[in-house]
Amino acid sequence: MPGRGLILAIESSCDETAAAVVERGARTLSSVVASQIATHARYGGVVPELASREHLRAIVPVVRAALAQAGVTLAGLDAIAVTSGPGLAGALLVGITYAKALAFSTGLPLIAVNHLEGHIHAVLLNERESTPSPLRGDPDEQALALVVSGGHTHLYLARPTANTWHYQLIGRTLDDAAGEAYDKVAKLLGFGYPGGPIIDKLAPFGNPEAVRFTSPKMKGNALDFSFSGLKTAVLRWAEQHDMADEIAARRGMLHAGIDELRKATPQRTLDLLASFQHAVVRELLRHVAVSAEEIGAQSAIISGGVACNAGLRDAARTASLPYAVFFPTPGLSTDNAAMIAAAAFPKLARREFADFTLKAKASMSLA
Ligand code: KG4
Ligand code: ZN
Repeated sequence: MPGRGLILAIESSCDETAAAVVERGARTLSSVVASQIATHARYGGVVPELASREHLRAIVPVVRAALAQAGVTLAGLDAIAVTSGPGLAGALLVGITYAKALAFSTGLPLIAVNHLEGHIHAVLLNERESTPSPLRGDPDEQALALVVSGGHTHLYLARPTANTWHYQLIGRTLDDAAGEAYDKVAKLLGFGYPGGPIIDKLAPFGNPEAVRFTSPKMKGNALDFSFSGLKTAVLRWAEQHDMADEIAARRGMLHAGIDELRKATPQRTLDLLASFQHAVVRELLRHVAVSAEEIGAQSAIISGGVACNAGLRDAARTASLPYAVFFPTPGLSTDNAAMIAAAAFPKLARREFADFTLKAKASMSLA
């Protein structure tokens, strides 16, 4: 392959406008993320129309900043990569249209990347940037890959071959994604948005054994997930414990810092949050354990926004599992474009290019 394998990637599938320049899928020269959290926070969730508008505002400065921080010009690149799905159609379209325009004006090839594949490659990028990865080099090596975010809770078997990756979907959520459950529980209890980081910070102050949430009984595929029952159980618990006044008071504290929020939160609610987090972490790691045993995988990758969760990372680290668990750094766990560039690199090597008919695919699957 000619050149340095320099890819400029653009990611705009949800509420982050991101651009990055990565060399050979292994060295990040820049990674810029403009978050829209402040825009959506007051609505308690992502508002698609606002997301598209914010992407339009941010895309040009974010791409310029990524090029400037990498110290490269468009002429020094080898390809433009962009997330083509899954995600919000209008949001994806902003990134795709801009990437197409850049590819058209420079003559560089355009590479379409599935957002979920990007999340998996976030871990591989981390590994390549640090020590040699046990996930590389051996074509027969297979890894479990759990993508757990606001939109997805999907468990794959990922297998690298000489110059490509194959994915097999072995379990997925049948209702809410884990991040969505965090966000909905936070919202119903009067905490801010996004709920995952808030609950994660408050959970250590509560007793995870205080409220016993049972595991959902899955009909059909035992590796599928379900989180809507857990969310309903939290709602029911809140109703049974007359929390309405407490929740209403908290809704007036949306700009409070975590310390202030903790001091104003009764112990029983901290216990509820800790128990909720304990139940989510237990379900996620149980599925990884069952599938690792069935398949005999030596490694598991956990990626996506929920992979930032300190409780999940601690539980995986202290469980002395018979397989290695890899998490990306927190900055690479949530949405970013470096992971999109990393996933695009094998496609550049294979010359798997998109043309200008590329469209946004809101519900694109990986396998
Ligand atoms: O991957 P991501 O940035 O965007 C999607 O593709 O969805 O994930 C965002 C999701 C949100 O639901 C957010 O609440 C959750 O990840 N999240 C967390 C944590 N940080 C972000 N969930 C639990 N614990 C965290 N520390
Ligand atoms: Zn994501």
